[in-house]
Amino acid sequence: MNRAPLVARKMLQYPFARAYSSGVAAAVASAATSTVDGPHTRPVVKTAIPGPRSKALLEEMGKSLSTSQVAFFTDYEQSCGNYMVDADGNVLLDLLTQIGSLPLGYNHPAVMAAVSSSSALTPLVTRPSLAMFPPSSWPELVQSTLLPLAPRGLSEVTLMMCGTCANENAFKAAFINYMDVKREKPLTPDSEEYSSTMLNQPPGSPKLSILSFMGGFHGRALGTLSCTHSKPIHKLDIPAFDWPVALFPRLQYPLDQFVRENEMEEKRCLAEVEEKMEKAAKAGEPVAAIIIEPIQAEGGDNHASPNFFKGVQSIAKKHGASFIVDEVQTGGGATGITWAHESWGLTEPPDVVTFAKKMIVAGYYTTLDKRPKEGYRIFNTWMGDPIRLVMLKAVAAEIRSKDLLSQFRESGDVLLSGLRELEVQELNCTQELFFGKEKVSLIERSATPFWYTGPGARVHSAPLTATPPIRETPSFQRFAAKGLIWEGVGRWE
Ligand SMILES: Cc1ncc(COP(=O)(O)O)c(C=O)c1O
Repeated sequence: MNRAPLVARKMLQYPFARAYSSGVAAAVASAATSTVDGPHTRPVVKTAIPGPRSKALLEEMGKSLSTSQVAFFTDYEQSCGNYMVDADGNVLLDLLTQIGSLPLGYNHPAVMAAVSSSSALTPLVTRPSLAMFPPSSWPELVQSTLLPLAPRGLSEVTLMMCGTCANENAFKAAFINYMDVKREKPLTPDSEEYSSTMLNQPPGSPKLSILSFMGGFHGRALGTLSCTHSKPIHKLDIPAFDWPVALFPRLQYPLDQFVRENEMEEKRCLAEVEEKMEKAAKAGEPVAAIIIEPIQAEGGDNHASPNFFKGVQSIAKKHGASFIVDEVQTGGGATGITWAHESWGLTEPPDVVTFAKKMIVAGYYTTLDKRPKEGYRIFNTWMGDPIRLVMLKAVAAEIRSKDLLSQFRESGDVLLSGLRELEVQELNCTQELFFGKEKVSLIERSATPFWYTGPGARVHSAPLTATPPIRETPSFQRFAAKGLIWEGVGRWE
């Protein structure tokens, strides 16, 4: 069996730079050519993973910290570009890039240079409370970094600490906005709102809700967790708001063969959103915001058409609810454009767009009229971090000067067309692989399940209870000969 990453070989024909993304395509592209001259040009695995040093460290760490999620220990100083070096010296092509949060890979020289300047040292040593005592360089830094990246139509930005925190505060902004619009008379110091809110009672603490989608992931704090529906283990034992949850479309692939079915599926889901909005209003807990991911990532790579998102936006508008697009995973270029929602052709921007991960800083963009009038309503100690903005500035400059988004789109097209080729050849395909904004079927529909292992593997048409013998099928050999398959694809018999 040919064990080289064969999709990568196909892509090697193209002059890729290291792509600005966390996805397979980016990693594969970067394996081909990198804008970073580093010591690593290919994966080198010398020990089992985790290796002996990682195992010893796991034992040590386990004495005082949870290790249940630790895969292995990393040598960050030796890691470079898309190559991650573990504590045992194994060099791994990193397709996960710190849960999609490293826009330019490890130790990128432009980012290293940006944080090595003497002016970068001060905010590292003295981290400012930006909402109260910003440094004099702050307005210019925000304007030159975050505003050029702002989604069309959104010029107000609020900085937070992480994706969850961005969503939590986007919810708060939506609630505040909803009540501002609904409130008939201005608040005065003796308003009932002030006394009731201290006891968590209406009218000061109103009954409002956020509508989210099954399969969605928006974080693990108490508000966001009530809108997270990807895996039960995230939610188990934690009290939740009884907020409405609608179904996210389950499209069938290839898309061009299921046009009518998919239209009907999206209509059905939109009708459910409408119904849940009305039901929530009737139950006295109206929906103040709808939150949605452009691509459900954590919840299983689920996609929908621009029409679906337009439909959700228009239902939100009709009910006076904010339309929050969670671009924590998709934002910052992961889909080949800075913001995935900008491919939907919306006639007006979303009310709120949240970000984190590849943007290096976290927060949300909105319109100026959504800014709460009073201070301290959306607030925390730091409200961002200047040093992260300095890094983002370097990242954005690198993306612009090297035109990395075009290169990412180009590499994406190559990978996608390779997967499509597989799909055409395997007419009975039913399982799906996800790439960029599209999903491609790869695995045969057959009584004998096909399985796939190797980098990025997550498709099983049957649970793997034991290691099955792999037999190379004729189609496997065909694809392998064309340089289109990763190692480890076989038929389970
Ligand atoms: C779509 C989405 N929203 C929110 C979050 C939460 O972000 P964080 O882990 O930075 O709190 C994630 C994290 O994976 C995410 O994928």
